[in-house]
Amino acid sequence: MTSLRGRHLLSIADYTLDELTSVLDAALRLKRQPSLVAGLAAGKTLAMIFEKPSLRTRVTFETAMTQMGGHAIYLQPSDIGIGTRETAQDVAQNLSRWVQAIMARTFKHGTITELAQYATVPVINALSDLEHPCQALADFLTLTEHKAYLKGRKLAYVGDGNNVAHSLMLLAALVGTHFTIACPEGYDPSPEVLAQARALAKESGAKINVVRDPVEAVKGADALYTDVWTSMGQEEERAKRLAVFPPYQLNAALLRHAKPDAIVMHCLPAHRGEEISAEVLDGPQSVVLDQAENRLHAQKAVLALALGWVPNE
Ligand code: CP
Ligand code: NVA
Repeated sequence: MTSLRGRHLLSIADYTLDELTSVLDAALRLKRQPSLVAGLAAGKTLAMIFEKPSLRTRVTFETAMTQMGGHAIYLQPSDIGIGTRETAQDVAQNLSRWVQAIMARTFKHGTITELAQYATVPVINALSDLEHPCQALADFLTLTEHKAYLKGRKLAYVGDGNNVAHSLMLLAALVGTHFTIACPEGYDPSPEVLAQARALAKESGAKINVVRDPVEAVKGADALYTDVWTSMGQEEERAKRLAVFPPYQLNAALLRHAKPDAIVMHCLPAHRGEEISAEVLDGPQSVVLDQAENRLHAQKAVLALALGWVPNE
């Protein structure tokens, strides 16, 4: 594999299949043997830029750095003010003089690409309005653990064609997992991301489908996924979305159409009674806490590789 030292992670599509496989393998190894990278980040600092709230992302990135002997600094929106107090260029160039990696959760995806353009250290996308690549890595790690292999498996996503759906779709396309999204009209995934996924799928054999009917999407699926109907930054659309999305709730009636051993996935935070019923979110087929745990292992792998870790064969 080519070295991932110094590499940004802005989109899942930044990785080749080979690189993606290496990241997932590294994450699995680090989950089993965290001591492999103990001390790797000694004396190193991760700057964590947050324009939006977070539980999982903040805690898992910070914990990953701590477990590798390094340090992380949490920068909240009022600390920086990218685009108001100073430009992304200035933030990236200053941070690059002090820290060894930057993680950013932003509204505009363009803010992350601009940070990466000017940073001389790796920049990791921790959610933008376009993608959530770290989430997708943790999710496919979870899928591998529960379903043993990825190629030819069927992942059904029900709900909004949002950032989480985009990264999942790209990752599925790369590894050859069939991906069907059921979403209401007007809430499709971005046409550009869909085209990108379909181009990748030509290589892997994955089928990438967009449908309107949730039952059609989940038929025979190995894994069912949903996410909030209103993402951070879309709060003013909440009432409109609440009127459109109810037929897309992931509940027991819908789950019955999937394979009997299908797993239920959600990136969290969840709204019980909206995009998912409490019964299903908290039920025996739910793997949402494995997904949350795997954020730690997946991001630790991304960080360790970007900081120059070379796993032994
Ligand atoms: N799934 C996820 O990114 O959670 P947070 O928003 O809490 O970080
Ligand atoms: N789609 C959600 C994911 C939260 C982790 C959002 O962007 O708010």
